[in-house]
Amino acid sequence: MKMLLGVDLGTSGTKTVLFDETGATLASASEEYPLHQPKNGWAEQDPDDWWRATQHTVRAVLEKSGADPHEIVGLGISGQMHGLVLTDGEGNVLRPAILWCDGRTGEECEELTRRVGKERLIAISANPALTGFTAGKILWVRKHEPETYARAKHILLPKDYVRFRLTGLFASEMSDASGTNMLDVPKRAWSEEIAGAMDLDMNLLPPLYESSAVVGRISAQASALTGLCEGMPVAGGAADNMAGAIGTGVASAGKAFTTIGTSGVVYAHSDTVQIDPQGRVHTFCSAVPGAYTVMSCTLAAGLSLKWYRDTFCDAEIQTAKEMGTDPYVLMNEQAARSPIGANRLLFLPYLMGERSPLLDSNARGAFIGLSAMHTRRDLLRAVMEGVMYSQRQNLDVLRGMHVVPERMLACGGGAKSPFWRQMMADIFAMPVSTVQNTEGPALGAAILAGVAGGLYPSVPEACASLIREADPLQPDAVRGAAYEPYYQLYTQLYPGLKSAYQTLAGLE
Ligand code: XUL
Repeated sequence: MKMLLGVDLGTSGTKTVLFDETGATLASASEEYPLHQPKNGWAEQDPDDWWRATQHTVRAVLEKSGADPHEIVGLGISGQMHGLVLTDGEGNVLRPAILWCDGRTGEECEELTRRVGKERLIAISANPALTGFTAGKILWVRKHEPETYARAKHILLPKDYVRFRLTGLFASEMSDASGTNMLDVPKRAWSEEIAGAMDLDMNLLPPLYESSAVVGRISAQASALTGLCEGMPVAGGAADNMAGAIGTGVASAGKAFTTIGTSGVVYAHSDTVQIDPQGRVHTFCSAVPGAYTVMSCTLAAGLSLKWYRDTFCDAEIQTAKEMGTDPYVLMNEQAARSPIGANRLLFLPYLMGERSPLLDSNARGAFIGLSAMHTRRDLLRAVMEGVMYSQRQNLDVLRGMHVVPERMLACGGGAKSPFWRQMMADIFAMPVSTVQNTEGPALGAAILAGVAGGLYPSVPEACASLIREADPLQPDAVRGAAYEPYYQLYTQLYPGLKSAYQTLAGLE
């Protein structure tokens, strides 16, 4: 039997999954590691923790499955995006990795925008300068830790550091490189113009490949540490969202998924490069060679409901414990008893500020229209509707860019709720489905390894034969029409509150 290995290097931990050639899961193992926050707004991790977790989880799946390593065709890695790893010439890590959710680089992003010019930066890197992205982090280390910077010989993204430990090769691929603010996204090459404006030595940047190419082979040293065969191919792999797309079969035009996890992502495949000149949504290279994606990221999707649960739902948490069920199941039942529009109540889900489409870290959550007649079930429904309106607003930005999905795949914890999925279908006015294998990024990484190892002819063909969708929920036109005026009103609220948010952020 031929097998594939997918490693998903996340922020809370690494998950490794062994699949058979039909995409069925044979064994999986996870290991967590800490997130260090040495200062408010900073987020760092030790790259050695990632490497340790990779070794342990690979060993664990080999042991659990009893698989013969000779039958594993290849390994693919999916990784948290945007993080900065700096190493010396031998690959020794020089300082902790600075992560995607680290917000220290506000000044450096302004500097990058000044040096390159806002319009040029968006035209080349397909994104405005964002604190989460890698370029600002490089400028920060150069300014604040010049001795460390002077010793740096390699700039790597998180999963590419793990690739280095597995293969001895310094390399990256298009999807992850798109999240650095330094890739010429339309040309799929590092941008000499941006590197020049940053005064950056381009020799620090790794060579680039496509996600489904063979990019390194397991070294003798890594073979001894993991139990994998020396010489086994390692694929380029992909950034987590792009690997997740492959794992849910979003690999051709018209396909899209929406993740309601902590954050909310609306992700659509596009065969051509489409850039929003205002930078409200991200354009990245897809893990499908030569293709692109347009993707939004909102910061508090599932997090809004979790906040509501933890703040107001003690009764549901208690009852769920007694009934042996999930509090969200009971919360769904409550929300369903409030009508569409939650008795004229709206919620803005900007609990963590907002990235897409507002790009405003000062934005904050709000209930609009609160009345003494409202009950907890109205508030709950308003939260769920507000999160879905925020995704619809991003979907509308995509539609405005002529990236128009035919149907939506719902992913993440929020997709488990049939009530929320139906709300998505009604508010998006499109069929909403789910996929059977929910391993997402790990499966996507394994599929890329399968293409690299010659098991499948191409990424889209592998997706078409391996990914099975459940029957979709259909949108209901009457309910859709009832949501519509609330959605339209939702889009008008933030512009009216913008200056109040700014004032609020300045208060003690
Ligand atoms: C995408 C982003 C996150 C990270 C999380 O732009 O910042 O989805 O990739 O791992």
